Amino acid sequence: MDYQFLLLAAEGGVATVTINRPKALNALNADLLKELTQVFTELVKDEGLRAVILTGAGGKAFVAGADIAAMADLNPLQARTFGVLGQNLMQMIETFPRPVIAAIEGFALGGGCELAMSCDIRLASESAKFGQPEVNLGVIPGFAGTQRLPRLVGKGRAKELLYTGDIIDAAEALRIGLVNKVVENGKLLEAAQEMARKIAKKGPLAVQLCKVAVNDGLEMDLIKGCAYEADLFALCFASEDQSEGMKAFLEKRAAQFKGA
Ligand code: CAA
Repeated sequence: MDYQFLLLAAEGGVATVTINRPKALNALNADLLKELTQVFTELVKDEGLRAVILTGAGGKAFVAGADIAAMADLNPLQARTFGVLGQNLMQMIETFPRPVIAAIEGFALGGGCELAMSCDIRLASESAKFGQPEVNLGVIPGFAGTQRLPRLVGKGRAKELLYTGDIIDAAEALRIGLVNKVVENGKLLEAAQEMARKIAKKGPLAVQLCKVAVNDGLEMDLIKGCAYEADLFALCFASEDQSEGMKAFLEKRAAQFKGA
């Protein structure tokens, strides 16, 4: 499948999706959002896939936001449709059955920060900058930034970023828990690939169920979350991977997981 705004590469069970609209700092218009939705729809069919890296081309931005030129003249109903298109994509990434690692170089603003927050893990280069500057444009975030940001960094810090529109650097993003790790400039993709390859060696079903347990469990109270975890833990014992993983440990050899 050919994409206008995306580059797709795959190696060793790791797919790298690069948003490639550098002239507009990879701003998300409706076509780009649809292409991202399409690429994740295609990737889900790949049985050998173990992890996805999502990044931006050009070195200056991961994504500088939703496309302001494309939004400027929307009426309220069109704005809602556009917002839901973005929200649905982010929901799709958040619940994608494989881990999605955001590799963030340069600006991750507005819709770009929201896109990064829908990923499982965020790695940032030292040059990365984050913010939800929508209030500068007279609007609120439209791709679930008001929902994911407080869940990630807490209510007080989220409100400060949302109300001020401040842009923070990678070190501050790390301090408040918006990113997992900051990597030296120029080493970002290498670090993302290293992490993806590490994950790719683990039991794929176990990794997938960890994602489900965390995502769904956080929507429950602790007692229900623990009961849910117990069921998912039990489910692992229906897999060949569980038997292989434990046998391999006892036989002091590396496990050969099949994802079955
Ligand atoms: N939408 C559309 N175009 C954008 C864009 C965006 N979000 N961000 C940057 N661009 C375009 C610029 O218009 C410019 O295009 P031209 O060369 O054709 O003029 C090009 O990308 C380069 O940008 P700048 O010249 O502005 O680059 P800079 O280095 O001077 O500034 C920046 C970089 C600080 C990121 C600045 O571009 C900026 O402030 N961008 C907008 C950031 C923003 O407000 N994002 C939130 C958007 S709203 C949103 O995302 C809503 C939502 O939640 C759904």
